[in-house]
Amino acid sequence: MKKILELMEQELRAAFTACGYEEKFARVVLSNRPDLCEYQCNGAMAAAKAYRTKPIDIANAVVEKLTAPKELPVFEEAVAVMPGFINLKLSETFLVDYMAGMAAADKLGLEEPEKKETIIVDYGGANVAKPLHVGHLRSAIIGESIKRMGRFMGYEMIGDVHLGDWGLQMGLIIEELRDRKPELVYFDETYTGEYPTEAPFTISELEEIYPAASAKSKADEAFKERAHQATLKLQKGYKPFRAIWDHILAVSVADLKKNYSSLNVDFDLWKGESDAEPYIDDMVQMLTERGLAYESQGALVVDVAEESDTKEIPPCLIRKSDGASLYATSDLATIVEREQDFCPDRYIYVVDKRQAMHFEQVFRVARKSGIVKPDTKMIFLGFGTMNGKDGKPFKTREGGVMRLEKLIADIDEAVFARIMENRTVSEEEARETAKVVGLAALKYGDLSNQASKDYVFDIDRFISFEGNTGPYILYTIVRIKSILGKYKDNGGCVSSLAAEKKILPAKGVSEKALMLQLAKYSEVLENSFAETAPHKICQYIYETANAFNSFYHDTKILSEEDETQKDSYIGLITLTKRVLETCIGLLGIEAPERM
Ligand code: ARG
Repeated sequence: MKKILELMEQELRAAFTACGYEEKFARVVLSNRPDLCEYQCNGAMAAAKAYRTKPIDIANAVVEKLTAPKELPVFEEAVAVMPGFINLKLSETFLVDYMAGMAAADKLGLEEPEKKETIIVDYGGANVAKPLHVGHLRSAIIGESIKRMGRFMGYEMIGDVHLGDWGLQMGLIIEELRDRKPELVYFDETYTGEYPTEAPFTISELEEIYPAASAKSKADEAFKERAHQATLKLQKGYKPFRAIWDHILAVSVADLKKNYSSLNVDFDLWKGESDAEPYIDDMVQMLTERGLAYESQGALVVDVAEESDTKEIPPCLIRKSDGASLYATSDLATIVEREQDFCPDRYIYVVDKRQAMHFEQVFRVARKSGIVKPDTKMIFLGFGTMNGKDGKPFKTREGGVMRLEKLIADIDEAVFARIMENRTVSEEEARETAKVVGLAALKYGDLSNQASKDYVFDIDRFISFEGNTGPYILYTIVRIKSILGKYKDNGGCVSSLAAEKKILPAKGVSEKALMLQLAKYSEVLENSFAETAPHKICQYIYETANAFNSFYHDTKILSEEDETQKDSYIGLITLTKRVLETCIGLLGIEAPERM
């Protein structure tokens, strides 16, 4: 189905051309004076410059064409106003037709993309054996939404968690383990047998080992050096350490999977930095042979600065003097691997914005060296910090790093208390509902902010049932569900699509406003994805919920006596529900039955 703006522009283009003006002036935008009109076209002003005419004359001529009698007029009103604006109001019948089209269409009329791109979303980015922090939480929530949006739009989306599983933390854990349990076979250099299949630690031990080792390495230089050597040995494939690494990975990944699944986040690939290791040598050789990588103070670097740069972009470090590879090396080698496995058209990295420089360097090397094609899109979606109410990066009350379970439990508890205030449901149901609503509060609280901005984590605001919050949105959907439930209980019949319900021209202002709002759906989805901006979907959801609630307050839906009219209302609110549910689904949120 064509987007509503496109349909309007089609009309405008025809009118501009018929008057002898170029069609590029026929752009339609949302009105910034909704009290006067719904949409407007400001093209007459630009056209006047190009054709040396008065804008109002152009606007008048175009309006005359627009308002000429037609079988199915798109506009009910088109008016030229000084100095040359064209104010537009959609015709009721056209809008109602559009609603019917959405109701009957798959995906509410969203069109397939011109090219079904393959897109890698690199998000999550948890580090094995290190605790998850709020940055990882943001990456998971935002990345999951990007992946869902793209998939729904019809792209081939591949979500990869890209674990940090190859760094110094591995050596730290190995050496700490040696200090704690020197008797383990992994540390017996004379041992030649098989290594145990059972891990020598549980997840809670592992969680304790890493911070202890990390603290020790700061105070104890010798320990730090041992950890560094152990990391190198592991990376070179030393068997006993490889065996420990396997255990660390297995124990940690099992825990991470549990955490991510409680967030309703799931990855297609559970790859990590370690998977890039086999690609590094060949890649470094290629970079050297092409004359891109050269030695500088013992290290291997690639220059990436460009003339047009407004700030300094330092060379990208590929290999340190001791032969160790770096973060950039592993990201580049991962691209080599991904090119080979998937040949993606687009990459989207959802990572803390403080890593912007790193990705700029990586993208430039990838492009310069031909690791990616010249037209491959490389997108860095850098997000800001989640702060506490004190304006500093969010910490738990005890000041420690955030434990995801704890964070979620806190939110659930707060939502539970809120639900129990009204006590319309059993305690058991309230607990279940609190889980669904709590997660929505957390995700929506995050996603409704522009990703790149820092924001304040404020439980009280997130769980509020009023304002631009998850619970308000869910409450609105639940309200629609409840109206539809009552309608059915009274013998009404409605399918999930409600395409069979004929929607009649709006009787009231808020009813038409709701229709206009629903009609924007395809455009919002396409724009939000093109701009990798889930907050734009949130904004749309919020406006739609508001439009519905105004309509609801103005309209007696269930007590409407005229059955055809009532059917129309039911059709409209079912469509509203579908639009809202589809959109929250793209954010990785679902609505409960009651709340
Ligand atoms: N593990 C990294 C961190 O915790 C994030 C990984 C981001 N993705 C990437 N391809 N570098 O900072």
